[in-house]
Amino acid sequence: MSFQNIDQAPARLNRSELAVPGSQPELFEKASNSAADVIFLDLEDAVAPDEKEQARKNIIQALNDIDWNTKIMSIRINGLDTHFMYRDVVDVVEQAGERLDLIMIPKVGTASDVYALDMMVTQIEDAMGYAKRIGFEHIIETALGMQNVTEIAAASPRNESLHFGVADYAASTRARTTTIGGANKDYGVLTDPDDNDARDYFWNDMWHYAISRLVVAARANGLRPIDGPFGDFSDADGFRAAAKRAAVLGCEGKWAIHPSQINLANEIMSPSDEEVARAQKILKAMAEAEKAGKGAVSLDGRLIDYASIRQAEVLVKKAEQIAASSEAG
Ligand code: GLV
Ligand code: MG
Repeated sequence: MSFQNIDQAPARLNRSELAVPGSQPELFEKASNSAADVIFLDLEDAVAPDEKEQARKNIIQALNDIDWNTKIMSIRINGLDTHFMYRDVVDVVEQAGERLDLIMIPKVGTASDVYALDMMVTQIEDAMGYAKRIGFEHIIETALGMQNVTEIAAASPRNESLHFGVADYAASTRARTTTIGGANKDYGVLTDPDDNDARDYFWNDMWHYAISRLVVAARANGLRPIDGPFGDFSDADGFRAAAKRAAVLGCEGKWAIHPSQINLANEIMSPSDEEVARAQKILKAMAEAEKAGKGAVSLDGRLIDYASIRQAEVLVKKAEQIAASSEAG
């Protein structure tokens, strides 16, 4: 291990993150009763410019009046390049800051963006006498944001998570996409001809680099890496495949842009019963090996060592967190 310790963001469950437009208050109650771990009430791209002001009012009222129970509540503010942003922050934090856990910052581009927001939120919290500090979630969704993701991730102790905003990222990088968060058949590998001159073509994951880079920046700074939207909400299999790819690379959650995606995200981002059972078995085997003075042992024909313990501990801890959350709510 490096001598440098990594402070971890507060351990919140973030398997599913439900997007709810602030301009559609009729959806709020249902969202509060959903199985989503985190809800972000949106002031940005799901809200038309002439509805921004009303959406802000809806959100303030909803944060204060609706029983959100144990839900982790966030708002997605408008970008720092718009004149909506300062009022989003001032009005919502002043008038409903005590029920707000997180602020989601879209299209963050540099560490200075984070610094500016931190300064504003700190002033408001101090002026209002709030004891709690609001955390930040950043959407990495521009070429600039991806270029500076390392500095952004380290820019504030409020930082909790990095999100991959695939739709805007595609627009910013001019990537060729078909559906939001989906695959593109042109991103593939053609195998060399085999003995019969046959060739195979395998689709690859065009988001692999972006998600991996984000995961590294997040984990190196103790933050949660979260995968963003999958646009075609009638395609559950497509969502599952995208969520699994992100989970395999280290993401611990995915957005739900429709309620039908919440359970899918929760399911894929939770360890399976078999995985938990195996992790518990590893911990037990290693505890016994340690007692016997050994650093590595084999279990069911596979080597396990201290790295296996660390993986198993993470998994068991996550399973405990999930169990505690289902009991609470
Ligand atoms: C999310 O904001 C996205 O652009 O994908
Ligand atoms: Mg976006």
